Amino acid sequence: MDTWWIRKRDKLLELAEQYPNAYVYDLESIRSAATAMSSLRSVKRVLYAVKANFNPDVIKVLASVGIDFDCVSLGEIEHLNTVLPDLDKNRILFTPNFAPRDEYVWAIGRGITVTIDNLYPLQQWPELFANREIFIRIDPEQGDGHHEYVVTSGSGSKFGVPLNEVSELKRLATAAGAEVVGIHAHTGSGIVNPKNWQTVANILARVAKHFSGVKTLDLGGGIGVPERTADAPFNLQELDSLLTNFCSDYPQYDLWLEPGRYLVAVAGVLLTRVTQIKGKGADCYIGVNTGINSLIRPALYDAYHEIVNLSRMNEGASKSATVVGPICEAGDKLGINRLLPETQENDVFLIANAGAYGHVMSSNYNLRDIPPEIVICD
Ligand code: LLP
Repeated sequence: MDTWWIRKRDKLLELAEQYPNAYVYDLESIRSAATAMSSLRSVKRVLYAVKANFNPDVIKVLASVGIDFDCVSLGEIEHLNTVLPDLDKNRILFTPNFAPRDEYVWAIGRGITVTIDNLYPLQQWPELFANREIFIRIDPEQGDGHHEYVVTSGSGSKFGVPLNEVSELKRLATAAGAEVVGIHAHTGSGIVNPKNWQTVANILARVAKHFSGVKTLDLGGGIGVPERTADAPFNLQELDSLLTNFCSDYPQYDLWLEPGRYLVAVAGVLLTRVTQIKGKGADCYIGVNTGINSLIRPALYDAYHEIVNLSRMNEGASKSATVVGPICEAGDKLGINRLLPETQENDVFLIANAGAYGHVMSSNYNLRDIPPEIVICD
């Protein structure tokens, strides 16, 4: 695991003097994740799923190392255009879900490639797609992910065209005068088994046979990152070798990936300070200055984020405590039963792996401030 925050501890402690709470992003870490992903031989293009973290400096560093972008709303596309006014529209893929007609009109009018993820747009608004090249999002009907809320394939999931509708989709696309040039799938988030993308690639190749104009298979994102120090890192080499085998069977297709989390999660930490400490029955609670308003993932998905007492990193972890925020919800817990050093008021706590789906999902609930985002470069 890239524990850059151990190397840069002094800098982080300095920042904690200036900000009561802060998200800190390490651009070096983002650059190195992006470089690792773009060097996969089997993958022609990597598109960053902007939803994971739309901080302007994060977007700029990714663009500078050749990463392209997957957007799911007009807001994301407009934001990209503001941050990178010269960005070529061909570096953007628009993959909305249940979006209103106007959003398709807007994106198509700007020459941005659009992914359609059900039959409805082709049935109801065929005129929008006449003489256009489009992508189709398929539901490969087998999903995975770190929590049921992030599994985006299979029954119960609202995403994608089911496999038994592919013939009808072909008929509708032809009738509309649209050319299907890409087949897309995104099966879930936080997937740790590289075989997932091999399976998806094979299913998409079967679908692609129905469309003579397909050049691209976009296998989506979802690449997991280790949550605990002891977890093995995602095996990118295995992914590359599985997909390289696929490419030798299907040299006619370019493979794309759409990672969000993999590129930014590890690069971000949330810094906060201890406010109060409390024993209650058998339990010990350590209160910190921000809670699920800043990082909702533990409450929403039961996600595990490593929590470290940055002020006392060299002291042994001696006590089990539940780390809670100041929000008026029983679920305002950032970490349950964590082994931590003997802690005192004002100690700086670091919550790791917070660069993806952290700040972007934060809120002012309880009228608590959203922590600022600070970017460090070296
Ligand atoms: N492509 C599409 C079409 C997506 O919907 C997503 C994520 C991605 C790519 C990127 O997935 P990633 O590589 O980041 O796993 N809030 C949840 C994650 C929701 C992901 C939604 N879609 C979390 O905090 O775990």
